[in-house]
Amino acid sequence: MSADLAKLNAAQAALDYVKDGMIVGLGTGSTSAHFVRLLGERVRQGLRVKGVPTSEATRNLAEQSGIPLLEISQVTSIDVDVDGADEVDPAFRLIKGGGGALLREKIVASASKSMVVIADEGKWVETLGAFPLPVEVSRFGFALTLERVRRALRGTKCGGDEVVLRTSGKANEPVITDGVNYILDAHARSIPVPEDLGAALKDIAGVVEHGLFINLARTVILGQAKGAVVKAHEAF
Ligand code: A5P
Repeated sequence: MSADLAKLNAAQAALDYVKDGMIVGLGTGSTSAHFVRLLGERVRQGLRVKGVPTSEATRNLAEQSGIPLLEISQVTSIDVDVDGADEVDPAFRLIKGGGGALLREKIVASASKSMVVIADEGKWVETLGAFPLPVEVSRFGFALTLERVRRALRGTKCGGDEVVLRTSGKANEPVITDGVNYILDAHARSIPVPEDLGAALKDIAGVVEHGLFINLARTVILGQAKGAVVKAHEAF
């Protein structure tokens, strides 16, 4: 099965959650990019929505797709946020930030009345942590912060404690986020209690945000080769 087709099917199903007049959080990543393009088609057919992008990449794509945009500073609330994920567990806890946009993604998700996660079904896991957890950190003192992130992994009984600075390109330059920070990838392997790790990371000076999204997702749409499965959180 092509994962990209599954992503497209998840994005297609998410259009049902967007109604005329809504303010819509626009996620980042390949699945969200499908959603932005599809939403752009609807806008061209007459749907009136305004988007709040979660990255400069999504802003550019949304502009090309003809979606009117708002700055985060112009809104007090967002009706629905549609975004991808790197992992989703049965409690709808997420790992996000594979694309490096976790800070803005979390700010937008937290400001939204409802978060709809769109992913191919391969992202559904019993236990979070096989995907390295992205942690956005201040560039100042990042090596010290990295050591403390390792200690947080050990202290919360994760399955691994390797933490690496994310780099890219031939020169292995550190990746710089839209917020002008670095990203650490924490190879936790398994995260027994995501709430504990999230709290431990938040406690570290130098950690700007981490990619554990807890109590934010309300609906999870898992795309398949044909169609998509929609799961709704019981607590909402
Ligand atoms: C971006 O920072 C991420 O949170 C993405 O939403 C996540 O990595 C999913 O990406 P894909 O949709 O490309 O799999």
